[in-house]
Amino acid sequence: MILKHKHLLGIEQLNPSEISTILETAESFLEVSRREVKKVPILRGKTIVNLFFEPSTRTRSSFELAAKRLSADILNFSRVSSSVVKGETLKDTVLNLEAMNIDALIVRHSASGAPHFISTFCRSHIINAGDGTHEHPTQALLDAFTIRQEKKRLRGLKVVIVGDIIHSRVARSNILLLRKMGAKVVCCGPPSLVPLEFRTYGVDINYNLDEALKGADVVMMLRIQLERQKKNFFPSLREYISLFALTPQRFSLAKKDAIIMHPGPINRCVELSAELADSARSVILKQVENGVAVRMAILYLLLGGKEREDTD
Ligand code: CP
Repeated sequence: MILKHKHLLGIEQLNPSEISTILETAESFLEVSRREVKKVPILRGKTIVNLFFEPSTRTRSSFELAAKRLSADILNFSRVSSSVVKGETLKDTVLNLEAMNIDALIVRHSASGAPHFISTFCRSHIINAGDGTHEHPTQALLDAFTIRQEKKRLRGLKVVIVGDIIHSRVARSNILLLRKMGAKVVCCGPPSLVPLEFRTYGVDINYNLDEALKGADVVMMLRIQLERQKKNFFPSLREYISLFALTPQRFSLAKKDAIIMHPGPINRCVELSAELADSARSVILKQVENGVAVRMAILYLLLGGKEREDTD
């Protein structure tokens, strides 16, 4: 089955069956990534552009590896060495790249909605690699893949998401995906970073981390996104750490077989103790490995088939 969508702009656009298709397709690409020869000819002749206006280690590298392992050609656009610094607009940048007959653009931008805006005038496939505080759909998909790998299901699990929820596109995409797939989500953090309005997404909110962790199957820790904070959201880092950092003592309140996740980059000893980050319960580097397989699946499902009937 090939996805019916032309673009992947957010989890919001996917139904549970499409999410399952992506996760199941990623299984076979994980096997490819573990082979001696990590390459299949599925996207030979396709040209993909990594269009990143914000820094990235994991997402950009894994999209590049995913494209290469599918035999596509990939171009890495760097904002700082581009004509954007001379004042070229986002639209003109995209139109000029498209004039080189590309097939897909993977977009990261600080403005929420930038990938959607590009999709309104661009004929290429657009994949959202993180837009402002809006969505990071491929992160949520790789997180779901990792949870399924560890827990064999999503439905009925208790997933606790801790930290800077309001500024986190990772949290938003994860909440949307996990709720669609039947998981129970609890958001935890200071009230200024976890507003009550998030209840409209069907999540529970608990401002006490010890209480939130009780019975958790999955604990997802988030970085404080200082680059998106325009005011002080908590009195001091010391207070934040004392109330919301995951320590071994706190983590013992979760289920015995609970796993620790983090999208990266980690601030060791801020949101998560170094001991836990490197522990057997941490699946953080598995998330990174799975990111390549999930992004291979997305590229294949969007670009790989002729069966797709565009619905957006
Ligand atoms: N998880 C994530 O988006 O990491 P990068 O910012 O390094 O891509």
